[in-house]
Amino acid sequence: MTLTIVGSQLGDEGKGALVDRWGGDADVVVRYQGGDNAGHTVVEGGVEYKLSLVPSGAVRGTTGILGNGCVVNPKTLFTEIDDLRERGLDPDVRVARRAHVILPYHRVLDGIEEEVKADDDAGDEVGTTGRGIGPTYEDKAGRRGIRIADLLDSDVLREKLEYVVPQKRALVEDVYGLDLQGDDRAEAFDVDALHEEFAAIGERLADEGMTVNCSDYLHRRREAGDEILFEGAQGTHIDIDHGNYPFVTSSNPTAGAASVGSGLGVTAVGDGEVVGIVKAYLSRVGEGPLPTELDGDADEEALADDIREKGGEFGTVTGRPRRIGWLDLPMLRHAARVSGFTGVAVNHVDVLAGLDELKVCTGYELDGETFDTVPTTTERWERCEPVFETLDTWEPFDSAAVAEDGYDALPEAARDYLEFVADEIDTPIYAVGVGPDREETVELTNPFDE
Ligand code: IMP
Repeated sequence: MTLTIVGSQLGDEGKGALVDRWGGDADVVVRYQGGDNAGHTVVEGGVEYKLSLVPSGAVRGTTGILGNGCVVNPKTLFTEIDDLRERGLDPDVRVARRAHVILPYHRVLDGIEEEVKADDDAGDEVGTTGRGIGPTYEDKAGRRGIRIADLLDSDVLREKLEYVVPQKRALVEDVYGLDLQGDDRAEAFDVDALHEEFAAIGERLADEGMTVNCSDYLHRRREAGDEILFEGAQGTHIDIDHGNYPFVTSSNPTAGAASVGSGLGVTAVGDGEVVGIVKAYLSRVGEGPLPTELDGDADEEALADDIREKGGEFGTVTGRPRRIGWLDLPMLRHAARVSGFTGVAVNHVDVLAGLDELKVCTGYELDGETFDTVPTTTERWERCEPVFETLDTWEPFDSAAVAEDGYDALPEAARDYLEFVADEIDTPIYAVGVGPDREETVELTNPFDE
């Protein structure tokens, strides 16, 4: 069977811990979109692994695949693999030959475009991770991208670079008006330097047997009876189609992309389980609306600081402090519908312990009307006033003991909170995260047993 794990909110829901936990029951873990913009932290036996590209399952020795829907920075890939090897692990990671490559000029362009947007004072910068994600997907859609397979053929690579690099240089110099002479970014636009570096990367990929025809590979593994876990990166509300455009990433974190981004048919994905990962409150890194944001007055800001510290809400990739808000059910309803969740896992329930007050947004008011899901435009969403329901709070509890004793050991108010959420989105709870370690999860249902 297949299990697809999807972020229900704005990324950073703690997907890594669940992927890592259930990945132990999978034979292959596949990422189907995004690139090294995805920070995931996996804690194993008290040791913390921070990964941005390598699928989380690799920490447990499961085969990790970067599907064709991913954009791959091979330098990050090798750095993460080498780091895991130095720490005594032997990660088995394969990359789809149809996946697109992030080149140095993509990262430079990501930075320039954000600077230009910031300078025009229109407030339309996205706050990207600066990893070149958007510019690489633009080239993919523009049919001028360089794919992993192209790195394996030095002549093809040169031909493609000779076509695309002068266009990128002209974009920087003629459109953005920057002079690359003497600029340390110039090397990113030098065909010879790029060719030398990326042909060598292709050789290493070939030497280590790391590239695959993803569709064929997964098809064969499935035929052999292997269990496949799709690891979504980022979250539903920064999906380029279903998120709050334009404050989105340039790929589809939602479940439909598991098929497109891997080459395994929609029936295989749809026949399996789709689990939405939910954080018990909200966090957002980057720009864009957040109707339930705790930023109204000094008390709210102090509460946000407290949650941020307790929850470690600082970007894994960029280190930026994350914005904090109350749980927003309209966002979860949208996520459950778009991806067709069969279950949810709610994380960070421990972080909300000990609060004086606990609120949940159940709907929005806008122009005298009420809504139970997210409007289609950012302009309308940012004008929405959240409708809150106040629920009982719970005291801090011993996470290890709760993880050991099970769901009923959670404080009653925490269980009420979880059941309220499950009812509102009409989706059962499969797991509850009560701490950062993989062991600190209360499992109600293992999707691989369904
Ligand atoms: P990009 O993916 O770097 O282009 O960034 C686009 C938007 O997605 C920005 O608001 C980023 O902060 C956000 N973003 C990208 N990756 C992640 C992630 O893994 N977690 C949370 N936000 C992300």
